[in-house]
Amino acid sequence: MTIITSLKEITELISGLKSSGKSIGFVPTMGALHNGHLSLVKRCKLENDICVVSIFVNPTQFNDKNDLAKYPRNLEHDAQLLKSETCDIIFAPSAEEMYAKEEIEVPFSFDFNGLDKVMEGKFRPNHFNGVVQIVSKLFDIVKPDKAYFGEKDFQQVAIIKHMTNVMKLPVTIIACPIVREESGLALSSRNELLTPDERKKARNISKVLIESLNFVGQKSVIELQQWVVEQLNAMDGLMVEYFDIVDGDSLQTIEKWSDSAFIVGCITVFCGKIRLIDNIHYK
Ligand code: PAJ
Repeated sequence: MTIITSLKEITELISGLKSSGKSIGFVPTMGALHNGHLSLVKRCKLENDICVVSIFVNPTQFNDKNDLAKYPRNLEHDAQLLKSETCDIIFAPSAEEMYAKEEIEVPFSFDFNGLDKVMEGKFRPNHFNGVVQIVSKLFDIVKPDKAYFGEKDFQQVAIIKHMTNVMKLPVTIIACPIVREESGLALSSRNELLTPDERKKARNISKVLIESLNFVGQKSVIELQQWVVEQLNAMDGLMVEYFDIVDGDSLQTIEKWSDSAFIVGCITVFCGKIRLIDNIHYK
């Protein structure tokens, strides 16, 4: 496994791999790796000759500069985990290597066709501009045949698929299922910030979502939506920020179960001060 920090070096390496006909799989991350990330790496390794993982805490997707400063960074530990997954190349550039100063200061703009105006986009303005900015740059450098993203960030996957369509990029986006703890809690680096008591409470998020599957078709969409919010808000220490039941491609809310063949419920809940996201497929 090679760790590369320079743009010049990775560009040369990728160019050599491409000319020898190797297929390249790519997993973009911000590090602080856990089994959720590693599930993407495993699949990437299975489906491609070469597996590239990027570790880059992207400054342009953080709304809060404090969050950016506090984001956990431990390249050595991440590299150990990736080595045991037989990742081939880690690309871990500095912010200076990835961005000219003006690019960080001037917000990047992209036509999201409304995908960025809902759910996470409402509460984290410009977040997805930063995501598209960095992922398009990384795709340009790594030139992957396939790129792997987790459904944990459901809206991010929909936006990346939209971006590759609009920009006509020659990469297939593979959406991978959410990896959960045995308790059902979706793995996230933010879980480490929960107290043991909060962690117990956080398990109710997936529990209520899974229970709500029983009501599809029995309750109307709005009744089910309200039921989930009421159940969670009634629990001490949990506060729902939003719970939207949407078409899985357009991310627009639906009114009837017959409105779409692909229906997902996306939720954000505050567990104390920690903001957790999760989602569930209804159809
Ligand atoms: P990061 O939060 O590090 O996540 C990297 C990838 O791991 C994302 O595709 C995310 O959806 C996936 N992932 C995280 N937790 C998961 C879980 N429990 N199960 C399955 N997959 C999981 O998402 C980002 O970084 C950034 O926005 C990035 C795309 C790298 C751009 O900066």
